[in-house]
Amino acid sequence: MPLTMINKVSAIATLSLLITPMSFSQTLDEALHDIIQNNTLTGNPIKQQQLSDIDSTKAQLGMKLFYSRALSGNLDTACASCHHPMLGGGDNLSLPVGVKSEKPSVLGLGRQRKEGLPPDIARNAPTTFNIALWQKVMFHDGRIESIGPSQFTTPDFHYPQRDPKAGENLVQAQARFPVTSDREMLGESFAFRRSTQARRASIAARLAGKSPTLSALPKTVTHYWLTAFRTTFSAPEATASQLITEQSISELLAEYQRSQLFIDTPWRQYINGNTLAISEEAKVGALLFYQGREKGGYACANCHSGDFFSNEKFYNILIPPIGPGKAGKNGVAVQGQDFGRRLVTRLPQDNYKFRVPSLLNTEVTGPWGHNGAYTSLPGIVKHMIAPKQMLQQYNPNQLKQKNIPVDNLKTRVDLLMKSNPNSFVKDKDYRTEDVEALVTFLKTLTDPCVKSRACLSPWIPNNESLTPLQLQGTDLDGNKH
Ligand code: HEC
Ligand code: HEC
Repeated sequence: MPLTMINKVSAIATLSLLITPMSFSQTLDEALHDIIQNNTLTGNPIKQQQLSDIDSTKAQLGMKLFYSRALSGNLDTACASCHHPMLGGGDNLSLPVGVKSEKPSVLGLGRQRKEGLPPDIARNAPTTFNIALWQKVMFHDGRIESIGPSQFTTPDFHYPQRDPKAGENLVQAQARFPVTSDREMLGESFAFRRSTQARRASIAARLAGKSPTLSALPKTVTHYWLTAFRTTFSAPEATASQLITEQSISELLAEYQRSQLFIDTPWRQYINGNTLAISEEAKVGALLFYQGREKGGYACANCHSGDFFSNEKFYNILIPPIGPGKAGKNGVAVQGQDFGRRLVTRLPQDNYKFRVPSLLNTEVTGPWGHNGAYTSLPGIVKHMIAPKQMLQQYNPNQLKQKNIPVDNLKTRVDLLMKSNPNSFVKDKDYRTEDVEALVTFLKTLTDPCVKSRACLSPWIPNNESLTPLQLQGTDLDGNKH
């Protein structure tokens, strides 16, 4: 059956009652075959990126650093506090909690700020899974961007100037920033009136046992790190200050994160010829995802394109404006607004635009949206179909996390509604069964490994190798680390 005949997938679904299930499935397979060819999908999202192996010595040391609270000013926050493999490479929160957490060892929904303070970070912690596969931009607003071979612009320089210290790849360029953030890891007192470079240098110096500004680490701990760095860099004679630098720390953190590759999905198997790898409902969902609106689909792949499911561009897609909002440099957030990409480029047309996320493993990376406004997959999918309608009827009661700022929500929503999003954003009425099919399709983009503690264990340090300062947390299974 040629594609043009499939005007409405639901029409086919009705038809399927009349024809044998086998031939319905074949019809879907044929239509999807054309789509896969037209979109040149291979199921493999790896292009030219630098990858790494979790068994390498650098990734192993990077893992220890990633889980160590020694990278935070007050020894209370690790990268893993907000990006834990058992929490989908994120934290399971709409908005993360960094420094000043009530119980620094607690991860996930129980993680709260001290004294019931509201979350003060504007954006949802994205997954670190498949982080190596981004080719152009890091962060929801793309403030770290590739501007040439091994050249990156970062917030340390005016956009789009090159940051000569950014390192070898996007992930390393990114890893230099959380440690400089007063709210994420550093803490206000250490950030005060000090350049980002001075901040990261003092964190590195403390790890090397030589910090003039931060409280010292016990000798046993600094000795542990020195030995580990010497082994990893095969430099038994080198001094701590030579080896333990902000550059080597970010390199190692990147090596660890770039090994988090989870791309063996049922969808990929399907593309590679296993027609039984995904269900009939998922196939209907795939058609809805890829087909244009004129054919009854939702054209999701206009933005979530290719095998990585992102064109790495920015759109204002009217995600409900909850949370503290984000101010530009020196500014104050207006009515909890977050201007997104505009804060980077300063261009008015970039107002409220955010990067198209990858949808690989999206099933486990919720809450969804740049501020975690949606706490269910059907919710965000409905939003993607009918953004205006969903924005106006947004119900903050769905937030599972306490104390998220939603004051003046109506004013915030009105401001956003006036923002004239690009012409892509057209509401379309959706059928509940379409939402269900799309969700079923999205779940075929999950690598089963990300749901298995055993499979993820290479990316989680075991107790024996923990230094005294490593994260103590409870994962989804309730296991304590
Ligand atoms: C307090 C929680 C928190 C901590 C701690 C934290 N992050 Fe993040 N991370 C975030 C948030 C929030 C963002 C998104 C910020 C934005 O886009 O504006 C982010 C973004 C990222 C990204 C970019 C993801 C993408 O898809 O573009 C990477 C990679 C990352 N963090 C790695 C790290 C590393 C490495 C550390 C430790 C050095 C770390 N994070 C510590 C919350 C945290
Ligand atoms: C115009 C481009 C565009 C189209 C078309 C589009 N999306 Fe999106 N999608 C985005 C952007 C941009 C975001 C992030 C928005 C934000 O965080 O503010 C997003 C976010 C998402 C998320 C949340 C992912 C996460 O990690 O938070 C899901 C799921 C999603 N889209 C699914 C879909 C589906 C399903 C369709 C089709 C019904 C679709 N999208 C159509 C641009 C698009």
